[in-house]
Amino acid sequence: MPADDDESEWRQRAQKYIKFGTVTDKNVDQLRKLNLAIFPVRYNDKFYSDLAAAPTQAYTHLAYFNDILVGAICCRIEPQEHPAFKLYIMTIGVLAPYRRLGIGTQLLQQVLHACALEPNLQELYLHVQTSNQDAIDFYKRFGFTTGEVVKDYYKRIEPPDAILLHRVAPFPVLSKEEQPARY
Ligand code: ACO
Repeated sequence: MPADDDESEWRQRAQKYIKFGTVTDKNVDQLRKLNLAIFPVRYNDKFYSDLAAAPTQAYTHLAYFNDILVGAICCRIEPQEHPAFKLYIMTIGVLAPYRRLGIGTQLLQQVLHACALEPNLQELYLHVQTSNQDAIDFYKRFGFTTGEVVKDYYKRIEPPDAILLHRVAPFPVLSKEEQPARY
């Protein structure tokens, strides 16, 4: 069997082990360890305490493979003129051995679905290091467009420049069948 077929078969078989969950006070420390393993940037205590609080919780999801935490998407609500707001994706990450199984896609799709249900949301946006072409390509697949380059956005990593990516309504809704398994 060609390697491509092996890969897609493994990806298909892997799906039944993938489940999603919500960030709570109880598991937020696990998320901190996951992000430390994935990102070159260290996030502070406020980053984590805010994630487990409503309404931000609706835009932050954990991904499990066989009950082990392997990925997460973390967002922040940015209030604009009431009741409008923007949503900022602070991080999306999957541990390297679990990449290319569709976990990142499902994490992002759940946020896009939550955005579709929110008429006051103006836009969804994020920064990516200019050298992170994989992540830029990943977001473009979901209708994000690139914006300006922010010079020296990062303080402790090379290159320090970030590119802005953003997406506006309409956001895609997941049908009941498309919604992934959750705890
Ligand atoms: N190279 C090229 N294309 C890629 C890659 C890659 N390394 N990774 C994902 N893609 C594209 C592919 O088109 C892929 O579809 P395919 O596998 O059918 O070809 C598609 O994105 C979806 O891939 P998924 O399997 O759903 O994504 P994955 O679970 O691998 O997660 C993620 C993608 C989150 C970007 C992962 O690679 C990661 O954790 N990277 C390190 C952390 C990171 O850079 N995060 C983004 C920083 S920006 C921010 O956090 C705001």
